[in-house]
Amino acid sequence: MKTWTKEERYRVLKSAEEVRDLHERISQSDYRQQYHIQPVTGLLNDPNGFVYHDGVWHLFYQWCPWGAVHGLKYWYHTVSKDLVTWKNMGVCIRPDTEYDNKGAYSGSALPTADAVRLYYTGNHRDEDWTRRPYTCVVNLKDDGTAEKLPPLFGPNPDYTEHQRDPKIIYNEENGTYYLVIGAQTKEKKGCVIIYRSDSPTKDWTFAGQLKVPGFEDFGDMWECPSIETISGYDVLIFCPQHLKLPGRGESVHHNGYLLGHMDWDTLTFTPDNTRFHVLDFGFDSYAAECAANPNDRNKATLVAWMGLPDASYPTDEEDWSGCLTLPRELRVRDRRLIQQPLDVLRALRGMKIDLEATDLLPRVCELELISRGGDLNLKLFAKADGSGGLRIDYDDTEKTVTVDRSQMVRRFNTEQGEARVRPLPKGLFHLRIFIDRSSIEIFVNDGDAVFSSRIFPTAGEKRLFAHGDASIHLWELERAVVDDFAVE
Ligand code: FRU
Repeated sequence: MKTWTKEERYRVLKSAEEVRDLHERISQSDYRQQYHIQPVTGLLNDPNGFVYHDGVWHLFYQWCPWGAVHGLKYWYHTVSKDLVTWKNMGVCIRPDTEYDNKGAYSGSALPTADAVRLYYTGNHRDEDWTRRPYTCVVNLKDDGTAEKLPPLFGPNPDYTEHQRDPKIIYNEENGTYYLVIGAQTKEKKGCVIIYRSDSPTKDWTFAGQLKVPGFEDFGDMWECPSIETISGYDVLIFCPQHLKLPGRGESVHHNGYLLGHMDWDTLTFTPDNTRFHVLDFGFDSYAAECAANPNDRNKATLVAWMGLPDASYPTDEEDWSGCLTLPRELRVRDRRLIQQPLDVLRALRGMKIDLEATDLLPRVCELELISRGGDLNLKLFAKADGSGGLRIDYDDTEKTVTVDRSQMVRRFNTEQGEARVRPLPKGLFHLRIFIDRSSIEIFVNDGDAVFSSRIFPTAGEKRLFAHGDASIHLWELERAVVDDFAVE
């Protein structure tokens, strides 16, 4: 495995030509996907700036051009009209000022009449590598030009250097803009700090630290926070770091949420109960970002990084890593967030596979299972003799579903645990599974639980075995994300 020097990781991209060959090379990989957003080269991590503006969805990702390594970060831009078909647009934010000299870090977007305004963290480092985070803003005009404005404000001296990932929120009730930012107190506790202004581009002042009763000591840094309103509930979504949760192995990176009520006057988020709900029960999901639904303020669409910080993946040796999840529609049901695949995805269905005739599982497909009750056992990408594979088991006595990737040939991040269990008190009645060459997203019971994971099947792992009383439908899926080279 290559070790990267600091110079290599933080090398500035001067011309697209510097990564053209790398793009050509990784395009040949057996693990490149067909309907997921993946890095044009190098590493993709968080989704950023997810927004609808003037008939177009914009979605950016944190991008390090050089390989599967976290180094100098850019915002790479993709667009879609339907949230299914995505087009590569090229680099949007470059770390090219003194305020973001070591990275244009994560952030969010606000649509305005004639532009999309992008808010991000400028990751400045001094020569001695001391970090100073700036909250920066870019105007992305309709003609595609991106104009950097002066930073809105610098680091808050009352917190450590860990202050990043601004989420812009406009509160119509009091006509105020808020920036919700992940931070760390001097006592090394994770928190959210909030700035406010009457104008989106000037006069920002520190409003205070968000009070979240019961969560004063919950991880040492909260990354990528946001506050959404969904089905009449306020939802605080964030990634508490360096905290272990039951059933999640040695993993110290989680993405979850609290359901409750946000009081913007007192800056207090009061959770409904003391449960921190994990957003995704799979192995690879982090830094989720939501876009408001243009037609319904009570709905949002979520997308996440299908990856984890401090983790490595089999494609690292091919010099690329990461992809985004499918966009999912959020609702609240039974005081839980549910995530459903978008209806428009059905348009990707191609040939229906006759499971009486074959047990070969396409590498790009959708599987739907409707249970008639009882235990279920699925092996996806098993070997011809029935061994191996990604296992999905439902135990009707225990009322639990387990996803286990320990039997696959290519195992990775094993210390994070290789099996994830989710109780299903009402039983399992429905599965929708989306497979795309090196990823799998399992939607249980109409969005009750989602498991998102990377998987890297080898040539001998290609069969589907299913046991249980259920009807199964399987379709090949069409390509929706064009893997073209756009880097300007
Ligand atoms: C989360 C994160 C963010 C940061 C970005 C840098 O994965 O660490 O907090 O802004 O990635 O790429």
